[in-house]
Amino acid sequence: MAMRDFHPQTRDSDRRDKRGDAVRIVGGALAMRRAHGQPTGASGVHVYDPIFRDDHIALLRAFCAPDATRPLVVEVGFQRARFARAYCSQHPETRYLGFEIRRKFVEESDAWMQRAGCDNYRLALVDAREAMPELIEAASVDRMFTFFPDPWWKSKQRKRRLLDRSFVALAARLLKPGGTLLVKTDVAGYADWAQAELEAVSGLRVERLDDPRAGLPPTQRERRCIEAGLPTWAVLATRVEGAAIAISDEPNRYDLAHGYDTKAIADDDGGDDAASDDAAQHDTSNRDRGDDI
Ligand SMILES: C[S@@+](CC[C@H](N)C(=O)[O-])C[C@H]1O[C@@H](n2cnc3c(N)ncnc32)[C@H](O)[C@@H]1O
Repeated sequence: MAMRDFHPQTRDSDRRDKRGDAVRIVGGALAMRRAHGQPTGASGVHVYDPIFRDDHIALLRAFCAPDATRPLVVEVGFQRARFARAYCSQHPETRYLGFEIRRKFVEESDAWMQRAGCDNYRLALVDAREAMPELIEAASVDRMFTFFPDPWWKSKQRKRRLLDRSFVALAARLLKPGGTLLVKTDVAGYADWAQAELEAVSGLRVERLDDPRAGLPPTQRERRCIEAGLPTWAVLATRVEGAAIAISDEPNRYDLAHGYDTKAIADDDGGDDAASDDAAQHDTSNRDRGDDI
């Protein structure tokens, strides 16, 4: 196995929703964003902008600092925080840190978390791949979740998939020995893809779960799948104590662009243009469209 550098591939663009308001998508190298971007101005009780606010970086680092008495749980792409609200309520002893790149979702989720009476959470408006190394110490995360990530069907879109080897290697480094990364999806091909990416990083023990709900509160999308009677899949990776992390250069043999006949449902996350693009990501009837965001 050969080690490979971590070169996250992200985009940085502004879009407009149906009302014409800017929908800021935060991404790209943090240093570039700091040098050339503008603060998002996002606000909320526990909303953080780690790109532009040094004080927020310090506060989030302190929140994530190793603490044997309070498990650290990280979710990437919490969207409307349906899972987070339930999980944080059920586990007040945990520290929950959520990452999301859409300002609208971050601010709305903060309001909902407050309404649910939660206080053990922090929401970061930033690309998790870029921010996690700056905010979280190695071997300090108990549980990491990424639920129903956009599949990015086409081969040419592959670099946008969250679950690539760089992300998996980063997650492996941040997990405590015995810590877990749980991936849920309603796209059969994505489960195969994700499992192969996870298995390509040594230092992780990988298994497909018999119960795709994994005994956890459902996310927004999961709930809709359950209501529609559609299958979901869950892959669990556990950081093996004492094992070195190395990344294989072997290509992933699963290709979402071909050979998968899933019946994914369209997303329903608010109806703005960006969300519609997310929906197109999941709707297999749109698989052959060339839409890019
Ligand atoms: C398809 S939605 C999944 C929503 C939710 N997890 C669920 O199960 O209902 C994917 C979400 O991940 C967010 N996202 C994608 N890439 C991200 C990244 N690199 N860092 C943080 N959030 C990300 C998107 O903005 C979107 O809200």
